[in-house]
Amino acid sequence: MGCQMNRLDSELVVSSLRAAGHEMVADSREAEVVLFNTCSVRRQAENKVYSRLGAEAQRRAAGKRVVVGVLGCMAQREGEELMRKYCVDLVCAPGQLDSLPAMIQQAAAGANAVKLDPSRKQPRDEGADERLEQLDLGRDAAATPSPVQAYVRVSRGCDKFCSYCIVPFVRGSEISREPAHILEEVRRLVDAGRSELTLLGQTVNSYRWQDNGAKVRFSDLLAMLSPLAGLRRLRFVTSHPLDFGDDILQAMRDLPNLCRYIHVPAQSGSDAMLAKMNRKYTRAQYDDLIDRARAIVPGVVLAGDFIVGFPGETEDDHTASRELIRRSGYKNSFIFKYSPRPGTAAAKTLVDDVTVSVKRFRNNDLLAVQNEVGLAHHQSYIGQTIEVLVEGPSPRTSKQPTPAVPGQAQLMGRSRGDHGVVFDGPASLAHQYVEVQITGATALTLFGRTC
Ligand code: SAH
Ligand code: SF4
Ligand code: F3S
Repeated sequence: MGCQMNRLDSELVVSSLRAAGHEMVADSREAEVVLFNTCSVRRQAENKVYSRLGAEAQRRAAGKRVVVGVLGCMAQREGEELMRKYCVDLVCAPGQLDSLPAMIQQAAAGANAVKLDPSRKQPRDEGADERLEQLDLGRDAAATPSPVQAYVRVSRGCDKFCSYCIVPFVRGSEISREPAHILEEVRRLVDAGRSELTLLGQTVNSYRWQDNGAKVRFSDLLAMLSPLAGLRRLRFVTSHPLDFGDDILQAMRDLPNLCRYIHVPAQSGSDAMLAKMNRKYTRAQYDDLIDRARAIVPGVVLAGDFIVGFPGETEDDHTASRELIRRSGYKNSFIFKYSPRPGTAAAKTLVDDVTVSVKRFRNNDLLAVQNEVGLAHHQSYIGQTIEVLVEGPSPRTSKQPTPAVPGQAQLMGRSRGDHGVVFDGPASLAHQYVEVQITGATALTLFGRTC
């Protein structure tokens, strides 16, 4: 129920539970074990879980025997409290997922099962780190949710401590994985036909490995992975603006299969807000990064994140964020209303003083600016022919006409720049790379035809 890192964890959990003899059922109402892999980044993400736990409580009240487990970031944040408040039998932190098969057995036998990560003040559990590494390395490369796409973790945790953010508390300190391990995992995935790989890290570009004096930067890792035969597209998310050196931009320019797409959250366009958010860069530094990216990487596509209504945000601060969206020319931006997270510096020291209605207004306002910018960005592709990796049938919207030719379906895929592209074609094109000529655009989607 969370970010890409959370989805990768779910995949690894499925893989390890299958190996332990469990089976997935299509309908959760038939399950004997229900696991929620959760997110704590905003209150709303947690509310979704509470309501699903409520539904499980009703099933149990109706006499169904079911083990209910909470995994992931919320499990770490709430811990055993979840068992006191909800009918939960199993609580497993993100760093303990390798223990799940045994925990399920324990819970099925009627004993509550809890495994939490040590807090950041406690000493690291090196053994747990090693077991997690084995979970990644032991994944079934032929069992990824897509037969052509896969995620690969390059680091775990985060040390940035943005003042609003729960991630460093629930995911622990940042650790980069050994390059040889990443290379081995990537090789196995590519051998299994996964030709588009996305490297993951909370701040993926701060990757850094040091061994016997040899240093491997993120750009070195990219150069190491890129030449693998069969790897058609290499991507990475999410980047922190501070760690984006020219070496990474040059890699994006020079490595032909490295996609020219950068998701680099700004969070705000105002220096006062950036300082209070502890983002550690100024607006001028962020602007400079965007200018360098555009100068060094022709055709680079940018995406952003913004938080509206951070404590003390004034109209002028908000205007600075509007202006930054225009200046950066993002393909898309994810815009969030500030949500205080217990235990974070912002929740402890700043008053959540922007009203709900002002947050809503500013959220819609930034979305409107982003829509204008996104429309212009997408329209600039009209007339071009671009490579699309078809993901499958398109989720229909009222803006899309039905396919004119019988036997054709409306398909949806992604460009190298992460544009969603919708076009008509036979369903058999799913998971193929096709050339699509772009004929139309909305703020979020390109439309075209195969050529
Ligand atoms: N590791 C990534 C993303 C972390 S969470 C990064 O640093 O870029 C994804 C996004 O959620 C953040 O970029 C931020 O925009 C938003 N976010 C995080 N904490 C939040 C909070 N307390 N309230 C509202 N939005 C938040
Ligand atoms: Fe959270 Fe900041 Fe780390 Fe991103 S960089 S995960 S926003 S603390
Ligand atoms: Fe959410 Fe945890 Fe990811 S808090 S955003 S699932 S790292």
